[in-house]
Amino acid sequence: MVKDIECFAVKHGVYHCEGVPLTQLAKAVGTPAYIYSQSALEANCAGLILAFAGYPTLPCFAVKAMSNLTLLRHIFGAGFGADLVSGGELQRSLLAGARPDQIVFSGVGKQSEEIDQALAAGILMFNVESPYELDLIATLAGQRGLKAAVSLRVNPNIDAKTNAKIATGLYSTKFGLPEAALPPLLDRIGRDPRLELVGIGCHIGSQIVDIQPLRDAARQMVQLASHLHQQGHKLRYLDLGGGLGIRYDQEVPPSFSDYADALIQEVRPSGLHLIIEPGRALVGNTAILLTKILGVKSTPERHFVIVDAAMNDLIRPTLYGSYHEICPVVASEGGEEVLCDFVGPICETGDFLAKERRMRLPAGGDLMLLRSCGAYGASMASQYNSRPRAPEVLVSGTSHQIVRRRETPAALWADELV
Ligand code: LLP
Repeated sequence: MVKDIECFAVKHGVYHCEGVPLTQLAKAVGTPAYIYSQSALEANCAGLILAFAGYPTLPCFAVKAMSNLTLLRHIFGAGFGADLVSGGELQRSLLAGARPDQIVFSGVGKQSEEIDQALAAGILMFNVESPYELDLIATLAGQRGLKAAVSLRVNPNIDAKTNAKIATGLYSTKFGLPEAALPPLLDRIGRDPRLELVGIGCHIGSQIVDIQPLRDAARQMVQLASHLHQQGHKLRYLDLGGGLGIRYDQEVPPSFSDYADALIQEVRPSGLHLIIEPGRALVGNTAILLTKILGVKSTPERHFVIVDAAMNDLIRPTLYGSYHEICPVVASEGGEEVLCDFVGPICETGDFLAKERRMRLPAGGDLMLLRSCGAYGASMASQYNSRPRAPEVLVSGTSHQIVRRRETPAALWADELV
């Protein structure tokens, strides 16, 4: 994993993305804007592939984390498959050049049309996580005269030690199947010529910075696979999901190679083909959100710095209490440091991007950047308060390319019938 500091760094007092000053980008594309570094993305892709080079592994990028077509094209071009959770993600991924035989379809509520589109595309497998899904997949596969490859997503009841809203491996969450629910499903698949069991898997959560739960889940899955093997089930794949965390603040996540070594050590005895579904770890540190200060106001209790980005652009701080480092694009000298709350223009008290950050009070017109916004930043953006979504810009060396235009106001109501 590259340190984003290498691709987003201060040079001659001005923050740059690679060779481009962010002041120049703000003039060229306006604010707010998501700015991605192509070098960071390429280094992450190559680093993750290299880390798993010693064991047969298919890395399937979790498209929900970052779904821009141009960036997806880079990721698939670097050898990644896709992990999807909707028909929209399927179409996006195919448009961006994903190989159908490297696509896994996960998700807790797959719908008929989505399953049918995935069957038509010839994807690698469905990660099934509810009993009723099997009937749906079997019926639709039968209608197409196909045999659908399915993998059962198990809920290992492991605490990933992460934010409760993004922990998915406990029985208290809606995800996966408890091991005890598997026997009738295995029978069901075995008896149905329209279904083929090709694997098992799990995904225990996101932003996991402690390797132990990931290792525990891998071990549990390997034990289960061996048990199933003894019962005569011929599995090919073990899907260990995504979840590897990144550094936002003081966290120290495992490196790609520590992560890969831990998983491979557990999985090797099984001989199964490993699938991983990284999202955040691949793209989290490849982008910043660039924003301009509209003005500053102080109350007896707070200094509010009002910026032009808001919770519709980056919902993570208010939704999960997530920390994103915020820095001035042009460093200023001198002056007293105070605690600043960076808030957006949206009419909600929860509309903030960063709270209680100690720094010199910036001034209207100054540019700021929020770091580590490449995962679940643009992909979770909305149009709340009828705010057009921000553009996405890809920087490579000293040039930039707009890979998603700023949404036009007309696009906000284009689908409304008046
Ligand atoms: N596979 C499955 C089945 C998943 O549900 C997820 C994420 C991933 C892979 C990718 O996980 P990652 O490697 O990115 O941790 N919006 C939240 C994160 C939600 C993650 C949901 N599932 C956030 O902004 O933190």
